[in-house]
Amino acid sequence: MLRRIIFVLKRFAWFKRFNAKVTYELLAKNVPTKDWHFMNYGYVPIESEKSITLPADISIQKYPLQMYHYLAAKIPLEGKHLLEVGSGRGGGAKHIASFYNPAFYTAMDLAQGAVDLANQIHLLPNLKFIQGNAESIPVKSDSVDVVVNVESSHAYGSVDKFLSEVKRVLKPGGYLLLVDFRSDNTILNFKDQLKNSGLVLLQEEDISRNVINSIELEDERKTARIKALIPARWQKLFSEFAGVVGSRFYLTLKDGSRSYCRFVMQKKG
Ligand SMILES: C[S@@+](CC[C@H](N)C(=O)[O-])C[C@H]1O[C@@H](n2cnc3c(N)ncnc32)[C@H](O)[C@@H]1O
Repeated sequence: MLRRIIFVLKRFAWFKRFNAKVTYELLAKNVPTKDWHFMNYGYVPIESEKSITLPADISIQKYPLQMYHYLAAKIPLEGKHLLEVGSGRGGGAKHIASFYNPAFYTAMDLAQGAVDLANQIHLLPNLKFIQGNAESIPVKSDSVDVVVNVESSHAYGSVDKFLSEVKRVLKPGGYLLLVDFRSDNTILNFKDQLKNSGLVLLQEEDISRNVINSIELEDERKTARIKALIPARWQKLFSEFAGVVGSRFYLTLKDGSRSYCRFVMQKKG
C-alpha cells in the first residue's frame, strides 16, 4: 500500500524534490560514517575496458568507484574544469579529481549534510563541494568543460530543467557524462529528453548487466555493512534502498523491466 502511494506521488515534481532532499539529508545526518563514500549501485567493467589498480584505501566500495572511473574514462579530463551534479558523499569526485588530474572539480549536491561530510572527508587542492540544485545550478554560463552526473537524475523534479542548465553552464564543445536507471515505462521518455536537450548524443550504452554483476559481487560486504551501520528496525527498508540481491531494484534490473544506461553528450561549438 505504502509502495503504491509513493509510486503515485513520484509522478509529482514537488514530491520528487522533497523526497530527494529529505532522504539524503537524513542519510548524511544519521549515518555520518567517514568510510562510506559512494551511493551508486556499482559497475563491473567488461573485458575490453582497461582494468585499473585501485588505490589501497578504496577496498570498500570498489564497484561504485568503478562506476565513476569508467564513465570518466570516456573523454580526456586532464587540465579541464569539471562540475559534478549530485555528488553525494563525494567518493567519485575525489577519485576523478585525483586520478584524472583535472584543473578543478566542483562537486555539487542538494543535501547540505552530504556536502559538509564530503568537505570534511575529501581534501584535495583541486576539489571543492558546494550545495546546489540540479534544476538551478549556481555556476556561470559557458564555464565548465565537463558535467558528471551519476545515478542522480532520476530524483529530479524536472529533468528538462536540469538538461537546460547543463547546456547553459557547459562551454561550447563541452561534455555531459551521465549514468542512471529508469523503469521500462519511463526510459523512452528519458531518452527523448536527452535527444531534445540541444546536446548531441555521442554514445549510449545499456550497462544493466555490469550493474547486476556489481550488486551480486558486492552483496555479502554490503549486507554486513548494513548490519553494522544501520539500526535494526531500519535494516529491511535500507536494504531495499541499497539494492541488495533480492531487492525490488535488483529484481527489476534482472528481469529487464528497469535498465541502467550510460550516455556521453556534447554541446556543439
Ligand atoms: C543515489 S545518490 C548518488 C550519489 C553519488 N553520485 C554517488 O554515486 O555516490 C543521488 C544523489 O543525488 C542528489 N540529488 C538528488 N536531487 C538533486 C538535485 N535536484 N540537485 C542536486 N543533487 C541532487 C542526492 O542528494 C544524492 O546525493
